[in-house]
Amino acid sequence: MSCPHLPQGFDFTDPDLLQARVPHPEFAEMRRTAPVWWCEQPAGISGFDDEGYWAVTRHADVRHVSTHPELFSSNTNTAVIRFNESISRDQIEVQKLIMLNMDPPEHTRVRQIVQRGFTPRAVRSLEAALRRRARSIVETAVAGAEPDGSFDFVTEIAVELPLQAIAELIGVPQEDRSKIFDWSNKMAAYDDPEYAITEEVGTEAAMEIVSYAMNLAAARKQCPAADIVSQLVAAEGEGNLSFDEFGFFVILLAVAGNETTRNAISHGMHAFLTHPDQWELYKRLRPQTTAEEIVRWATPVVSFQRTATQDVVLGGARIKKGDRVGLFYSSANNDPTVFDHPERFDITRDPNPHLGFGGGGPHFCLGKSLAVMEINLIFDAMADALPDLRLTGEPRRLRSAWLNGIKELRVRRA
Ligand code: HEM
Repeated sequence: MSCPHLPQGFDFTDPDLLQARVPHPEFAEMRRTAPVWWCEQPAGISGFDDEGYWAVTRHADVRHVSTHPELFSSNTNTAVIRFNESISRDQIEVQKLIMLNMDPPEHTRVRQIVQRGFTPRAVRSLEAALRRRARSIVETAVAGAEPDGSFDFVTEIAVELPLQAIAELIGVPQEDRSKIFDWSNKMAAYDDPEYAITEEVGTEAAMEIVSYAMNLAAARKQCPAADIVSQLVAAEGEGNLSFDEFGFFVILLAVAGNETTRNAISHGMHAFLTHPDQWELYKRLRPQTTAEEIVRWATPVVSFQRTATQDVVLGGARIKKGDRVGLFYSSANNDPTVFDHPERFDITRDPNPHLGFGGGGPHFCLGKSLAVMEINLIFDAMADALPDLRLTGEPRRLRSAWLNGIKELRVRRA
């Protein structure tokens, strides 16, 4: 049965809908009247046997599902509710090798190993290099602008820092970075026909990354360096990743740390340009709360999925074992029972218990501190070098089933 308050066949994961807008009015209606509701999907497009999912829209329910992996598995199906229309069974199986799609205790083992590379100290150690990068990215954009001072903020600024941060983190030598960047972009963009990236090209790029990462791991095992690869694979034994586990971890980083942060930065700039009072405030005070509000406001990951491991009641709905459950972070982050005036972009919002990095369970974003640092560094560099920017058109949005993305944001120096 479709939701009585939505048009027949309404699907929150429809990439055409998400290309046009995030369905905030519909989320608001669902939170009020049908907070956990079965949404049918058109036959054959989900990539799964069933053709629908439970849409979970309230903050408390998204948190509940995220923090109960014994009831809601990440492994039975893959983490995204709807892939591009032609996802194959084989790909779904391969996805299970990635930690995002594992359950405890397997997930716990891998997470304990990889989080060694994401301690506050490890992230801080990247700060000086990334600060220099952020400044040079902004300076290069200014130097390369059109004669009237205009440029595309996404390709010239937002794209670069997240890629450099991942390369820095895993110690990719400078001369190999353009290859890694090219593969990461091909993997991330397959949903949008404008990029003309076929499933084959995406899969091939993923395999290139795995093979590159495995070679890097083998080299570091022979000759350790001061980077995360050396820490994760150097010693023998239980507490380390195998080369192929490391390869799949790098794939995850290339997807999880790349488009997400890029879109947070692009949406953040758009929010500042459409809320000039907040930009003035940022330039003056640089509040520590800014990055979290940008992630709440943008919610780059609109939704992820779990699968019920048993019959369970949630938000009044009777969910059956094996049913797919969609966690709508975009909706949770605008839940008025949690956020005062969620429609306001307020960089001083505090507390800000948003779920943009996940609902707080075992899969909570591993790269959160790195992402927050990147967002701060880019807007510091912008405030110093390009304090007066204007929008010169509407953003062009990404076509995707799960990312709230901007692929072009034309701006001009004032
Ligand atoms: C997981 C969002 C940046 C690495 C996640 C999850 C979300 C998310 C929603 C899933 C949480 C869950 O299922 O409970 C974001 C956003 C980012 C960002 C919005 C930027 C603004 C990054 C960065 C990295 C990263 C920079 C690393 C370089 C990961 C990893 C996981 C993850 C490895 C999987 C963790 C696990 O399965 O245990 N992220 N992320 N993310 N993120 Fe992020």
